[in-house]
Amino acid sequence: MKTHYLNEKEENSIQTAAEILKNGGLVAIPTETVYGLAANALDGKAVAKIFTAKGRPQDNPLIVHVASLDEISPLVESVDPRLYSLAEKYWPGPLTVIMKKSSLIPDEVSAGLDTVAIRMPSHETARKIIEISGVPLAAPSANASGKPSPTKASHVIQDLDGRIDAVVDGGECSVGVESTVVTLATEPPTLLRPGGITPAQLEAVLGEIQISPAVFEKLKEGEKAESPGMKYKHYAPAAQVTIIKGDFESFKKFVVAQKETVCAVCFKGEGKHFENYIEYGSENDADSQAHSIFDALREVDKTGCNTAFVRCPVSSGVGLAVYNRLLRSAAFRVIDLDFSIPVIGLTGQTGAGKSTVGTILKDKGCYTVDTDLLARKAVENPEVIARLCEKFGDDIVSVGVLDRRELARRAFATPEGTKALNLITHPEITRLAVEEIHKAEAEGAKAAVIDAALLFESPLTAVCDKTVCVVADEKIRLERIVKRDGISEADARLRMNAQPDEEYYKSKSDIIINNNGEDLDVKFDFIQEG
Ligand code: TXA
Ligand code: MG
Repeated sequence: MKTHYLNEKEENSIQTAAEILKNGGLVAIPTETVYGLAANALDGKAVAKIFTAKGRPQDNPLIVHVASLDEISPLVESVDPRLYSLAEKYWPGPLTVIMKKSSLIPDEVSAGLDTVAIRMPSHETARKIIEISGVPLAAPSANASGKPSPTKASHVIQDLDGRIDAVVDGGECSVGVESTVVTLATEPPTLLRPGGITPAQLEAVLGEIQISPAVFEKLKEGEKAESPGMKYKHYAPAAQVTIIKGDFESFKKFVVAQKETVCAVCFKGEGKHFENYIEYGSENDADSQAHSIFDALREVDKTGCNTAFVRCPVSSGVGLAVYNRLLRSAAFRVIDLDFSIPVIGLTGQTGAGKSTVGTILKDKGCYTVDTDLLARKAVENPEVIARLCEKFGDDIVSVGVLDRRELARRAFATPEGTKALNLITHPEITRLAVEEIHKAEAEGAKAAVIDAALLFESPLTAVCDKTVCVVADEKIRLERIVKRDGISEADARLRMNAQPDEEYYKSKSDIIINNNGEDLDVKFDFIQEG
């Protein structure tokens, strides 16, 4: 199928679009929120084509778009009077209201539910197309299912060229995130999806509303979604996205410490600090963030980076919509770098006795994070396993379980293999370590101590306020290893020689602790004693 490109500024383009829609075709139309993929909402067959074109799951219902209030009553069981109050304030505009549907609404639109979602867009071209076609238009966002919603005609073409009859170019969408969805079918009404109309604006008209847990949280396995669209992977570029909470300094330190090439998705003026970056709006302006977030997510893949870290928006007002979309594009992966206790990175050569130092700090009220344990946990994460399989072969997993010995055998065979293994596992170890630091805070620890042999080889340094290395004379280390692990001197030397020299650790550390003797004490001025 050839997709016709129509420009709203050209004569007849709107007429042509309306004609296609009347005849049961699919047209992507501009709205003030995002581009919608429209079909005649009263024609089940036409609507069914939307699902095929987008690859949309069948159980995800569509929004019906109207141009005037009188079109609504035939579509619903009865018009809830609160609809008129909402319409008076916020229509036409980025608000969708759900009510009990009438029998006129085909099952393809409501996906088997007994309700229908209705919206009156404010975009002039959208309104004209609805008016001229003379039917209400069912329209989900005009992206391939799972991809970021389109806010430019070029985004639609990227995803759906050859799969739909036409696209009408109406320029960039002004709002940039999809409409707020509220249902009047529950008591009190429920906000199902945040958008350009804020919770406070809804409450000004409706009084108390509830916010669906799906706005903030991943649905649990088997849990029923109030709004089916909330359960699917969404808005995701090919790159893995992670939201970073905390101030810009922490963000910068974290991104710069990554060992692979990553993309920083940050606010206006911040990009210059990074090799690869996309800016989305200004830090204190949620409207500007909403306007550009989907375009930014699409741009990430053009940088060629497999990983993107996104500055976290303020999650109130319109910012709630931005945060909600980012959460989904990140599959709910959030790293919170806002710590209330000091974080110490503890490292050193084998046999120097860093565990001893760790134990002393633990006795003084610190919380120790054992990264060896986290390394084991990291390779239980299915996403990590998938990347390991890609690199080291699918047969490192047998009957669903990762064969850690086989992985080690293949990865440690060459320096490149070791490096690749670290690149895959260290970011996950770092994420887990951050979770541990927050656990330490919750338990009232004086500080979190991250015990990591490979501290400087991983992004872990970025979460540490201070780095500490423990050193001891070579002879003493040798004795300790032989005694501790029951191995020969020759084997112990092999292990020692596999590590960088003492100078490497010293030059990278803020604090150096000599651990040759027996009566070791550790005092830091940033940790209160007693
Ligand atoms: O701004 C927008 O709303 C855009 C433009 C094109 O109007 N449209 C849009 O549609 O975002 P879509 O399909 O991508 O998102 C519709 C959302 C989905 O999460 C869907 O599950 C929910 O609304 N929805 C639709 N009908 C529903 C119903 N009867 N009950 C609960 N949720 C419903
Ligand atoms: Mg959508």
